[in-house]
Amino acid sequence: MTGIADDTLIVQEVATRDGFQIEPVFVETAEKIRLIDALSEAGFSRIEVSSFVSPKAVPALRDAAEVFAGIRRRPGTVYVALVPNPKGAERALAAKVDEINLVASVSETHNRANMGMTPDASIEGFTRIMETVRGAPVSVNATVATAFGCPFEGDQPADKVVAQVERYLSLGVDGVTLADTTGMANPRQVARLVAAVLPLVGAEGLTLHFHNTRGLGLANVLAACEAGARRFDAALGGLGGCPFAPGATGNICTEDLVSMAHEMGLATGLDLEALIGLSRDLPRLVGHDVPGQVAKAGRPCDLHPAPALKAA
Ligand code: COA
Ligand code: ZN
Repeated sequence: MTGIADDTLIVQEVATRDGFQIEPVFVETAEKIRLIDALSEAGFSRIEVSSFVSPKAVPALRDAAEVFAGIRRRPGTVYVALVPNPKGAERALAAKVDEINLVASVSETHNRANMGMTPDASIEGFTRIMETVRGAPVSVNATVATAFGCPFEGDQPADKVVAQVERYLSLGVDGVTLADTTGMANPRQVARLVAAVLPLVGAEGLTLHFHNTRGLGLANVLAACEAGARRFDAALGGLGGCPFAPGATGNICTEDLVSMAHEMGLATGLDLEALIGLSRDLPRLVGHDVPGQVAKAGRPCDLHPAPALKAA
């Protein structure tokens, strides 16, 4: 990837992956495809479409192959799939994904709960995946989950996170994500970890994945931005959460992030009005209200008629 301009944010939409994976209702395949096509139209350069994981672990995403087969691929958009193991990578290659997102937690306890194995076993599988994908037209991103804290173990030392990033880079991945899986990060911690990882990965290759579990999602984005990061995951409506982490709730909300970026003079290439329209349709798909705020309040420029003045 070429350099990212200083006044630009890259937003990767993850609602149909991180968002739908935790929903108890199964969103119909045709609805998923329609939503992803509409997200492509709204201007995303990157969409995490689904996961090639065990259908027993995440039944909500059991239709990943059908979804990839059904979506319209907008030229210039990278369609990503989460992959936990070599079997997932085979399925992702067969579905012709543009990018594989490998995920392992830095916390051993969370990785055992989420992936049924140690982080070392996950990364050993990634080594085999890198051999399989060599020469295939697919890029590879690798995520450090629970990078800002684990709901079972608590704090994760920064040097352990950096060591996992270095292992990923030594495998030859194209990009790295630091994920705050259950919203434990704070802005100063984010600034420190971004400062430690950015020299290794570069702004073109580093993505931050925040959850708004404790209300610090956009504060963490701002801290990461000020430390030089430019790529962020976000979910329409603020859907999202890890099914294997107690109390997990939504990702940072795409339209709230895009509204903040545009108000601050940062370009995203995204059509905010279209995103608000799509977000307002989410309760129909998932059967409940969603946490995003801008879809409820409107954009700051959407003004209201002044109240009639009382006669003097
Ligand atoms: N896709 C589909 N099926 C898979 C698979 C994959 N990537 N990996 C394993 N399976 C199947 C196996 O074929 C086997 O099927 P069978 O019972 O019909 O023989 C079954 O799952 C068990 O395989 P095993 O290798 O023992 O896996 P496991 O049960 O230990 O589960 C994972 C390991 C990683 C597959 C599972 O924990 C998982 O999918 N985790 C993802 C969790 C997630 O998405 N979290 C949120 C995002 S971070
Ligand atoms: Zn997440």
